[in-house]
Amino acid sequence: MRREIRSFVKRNGRITPGQKKYVSLYLEQYEVSLNSECLFSQSFGNKNPVIIDIGFGNGDDLFSQAYNNPQYNFIGIEVYLSGIGVLLKKITENSLVNLRIINGDAVEVLNNNILRNSVSKIQLLFPDPWPKKKHHKRRIIQLEFVNNIYEVLCSEGFLHIVTDCEKYAEYIADVIKKSNKFVDEFSINNHGMNFKRETTRFEKKGLNKGSIIREFSFVKK
Ligand SMILES: C[S@@+](CC[C@H](N)C(=O)[O-])C[C@H]1O[C@@H](n2cnc3c(N)ncnc32)[C@H](O)[C@@H]1O
Repeated sequence: MRREIRSFVKRNGRITPGQKKYVSLYLEQYEVSLNSECLFSQSFGNKNPVIIDIGFGNGDDLFSQAYNNPQYNFIGIEVYLSGIGVLLKKITENSLVNLRIINGDAVEVLNNNILRNSVSKIQLLFPDPWPKKKHHKRRIIQLEFVNNIYEVLCSEGFLHIVTDCEKYAEYIADVIKKSNKFVDEFSINNHGMNFKRETTRFEKKGLNKGSIIREFSFVKK
């Protein structure tokens, strides 16, 4: 069944001819096929640990993480084709083999298409904070979604969330605590998968406004 409330607004247009060109030429080749449950080893041809980035925007940071960490497989999930076009350009220009894309709603993808206990890390960098109270139901971080993240993560898998919105940070901490399924990685001194991060487009916007960046790093209990 399709959800009514989404964490993004459907928008048409707003894609440049260049981005469109990369999408039509390469998306099929680099997209993870969503059979009933996608098997990463088929997509990548190896069994390296998989990291999923949800809502990668134009993928600057995701590209550099994948480029600098070839011993891991990366999958970016994004709804908007414009950002996918930007990322596909970089992937193809650099012949990157450890980065694949899913064009879709991450909430549905996690619910329906990802094998349980198959992902080593899930990251959400600057998910939309939906600051107005009447829009809080649109926030991607909801208890049910966090439970699904827990299900698809491997044993001791990592969940990394970054936001520049103080109120969203408080809310995220609260939802994770309520889920009772994660521990803060600092509390158990397990920092196994922290890669160097590029400043993302949304992070730059936040920093320009003087916002404080809050990073959460959790480990599956
Ligand atoms: C505020 S932007 C952050 C983009 C990027 N991570 C950055 O830091 O620059 C949030 C992104 O999440 C994407 N998004 C929102 N809900 C999503 C969903 N349910 N599934 C996949 N992507 C989603 C939006 O399209 C948007 O690109």
